[in-house]
Amino acid sequence: MSKETLTAIDNRTGKEYELPIEHDTIRAMDLRQIRVEPEDFGMMSYDPGYANTASCKSRITFIDGEKGILRYRGYPIEQLAEQSTFLEVAYLLIFGELPTQDQLDYWVYRVLRHTYLHENLTEMLKTFRYDAHPMGILISATAAMSTFYPESRNIDDPDVRLKQIWRLLGKLPTVAAFAYRHRIGRPYVYPNSELGYTENFLYMLDYMGQSKYEVNPVLARALDVLFILHADHEQNCSTSTMRAISSSRADPYVAMAGAQAALFGPLHGGANEAVLRMLMEIGDVAHIPAYIERVKRKEVRLMGFGHRVYKNYDPRAKIIKRLAYEVFEVTGMNPLLDVALELEQIALHDDYFLERKLYPNVDFYSGIIYQAMGFPMDYFPVLFALGRAAGWLAQWVEQITDPEQRIARPRQIYLGPERRDYVPVDQRQPVAMAC
Ligand code: CMC
Repeated sequence: MSKETLTAIDNRTGKEYELPIEHDTIRAMDLRQIRVEPEDFGMMSYDPGYANTASCKSRITFIDGEKGILRYRGYPIEQLAEQSTFLEVAYLLIFGELPTQDQLDYWVYRVLRHTYLHENLTEMLKTFRYDAHPMGILISATAAMSTFYPESRNIDDPDVRLKQIWRLLGKLPTVAAFAYRHRIGRPYVYPNSELGYTENFLYMLDYMGQSKYEVNPVLARALDVLFILHADHEQNCSTSTMRAISSSRADPYVAMAGAQAALFGPLHGGANEAVLRMLMEIGDVAHIPAYIERVKRKEVRLMGFGHRVYKNYDPRAKIIKRLAYEVFEVTGMNPLLDVALELEQIALHDDYFLERKLYPNVDFYSGIIYQAMGFPMDYFPVLFALGRAAGWLAQWVEQITDPEQRIARPRQIYLGPERRDYVPVDQRQPVAMAC
């Protein structure tokens, strides 16, 4: 019978420690007892980027990166993408089970009742410059919502939490649509609650007063599937940010603004834009080998490839690749698809990528679809944020209702100067202001 413990010997002292193992994990705090002198602080683990640190116990999303498996609350992503809708998936992520028809109807009704923005918020959006990045607008508007709903700070009340969930899911597409129209100088189109969630979003983006306007159902379904695929991905950079901010008991609006900011970065939600820029830079299939050589010389990264967790083909990338063809039936082919397909083929057979287990991730094909649908490149992370909002909210609820969670506060290894005395200004040596 094996014992669920880890025996560690500190070779500095010869002392032996027995650390309990639970879920293949030791508690980092159990390391603290390991010390040379009684007055020592005790041992910590060093893990930049939290590559091997579990920051929570979660029941939301399961990923097996080696096998390329992604499940929300146990349901395979492939089945959800095929059979579900984004709002149903949001319900699943947040409440843990698929809704009955009555529950789903009520849920959709409540979310769609919250699509209108306060007029002051709409006025605020109008004050952004014509060329403001839409992520900057989204982040600012989400944070500003905190000032409209001060009761949201009462995060311990489940009814208050639920209301903010409806509001955030309902209002984010409206903010996103207004941000889009603001930049092209078009009047904002107010939500139409007769339409479904994603149809309404496309309507707010596109509608120009036509008497017989209809949202294209193929494009609406494709975007809905993209939202499903982006809805959650366990403890990624933006979700960890959402959890870290709300661990200080901040309200969900400012916490989500922080999560969106984390998503904005090119290594995270900005990657699909970076993929498209890369494909445009390559421009032609003939230029791919030279580009691959630059990647190997580490001059550039192959954007849309590689993942901290997946060491296999990202299951979302497979679904998106199929979806691309459905979208192109409506929009016409995106010529960059040829470059992407060839790049993928070459990379999948090249030792550099095989050895490092670098496979296409969710962002490799999503940008091509978004571009074919007419979205500007800097808008792509906004689309990612709309889908991921469901996961951020599910993780937020799980985090603040988890009695084991405390304020996020990592430790550091201090390697700076020892104590030293203040030097008068005329006695100092100049130091370069490089950072
Ligand atoms: N192209 C070329 N080489 C790469 C790439 C890439 N895209 N990704 C990783 N590598 C190499 C890296 O140079 C390193 O090689 P070596 O061992 O020789 O130094 C090795 O693979 C391990 O890389 P890493 O940077 O330690 O891996 P990581 O887990 O810290 O980074 C990543 C994960 C997603 C940030 C990284 O793969 C990357 O920068 N990919 C491109 C950006 C991208 O597509 N991001 C979207 C991620 S999926 C959606 C999302 O999460 O938002």
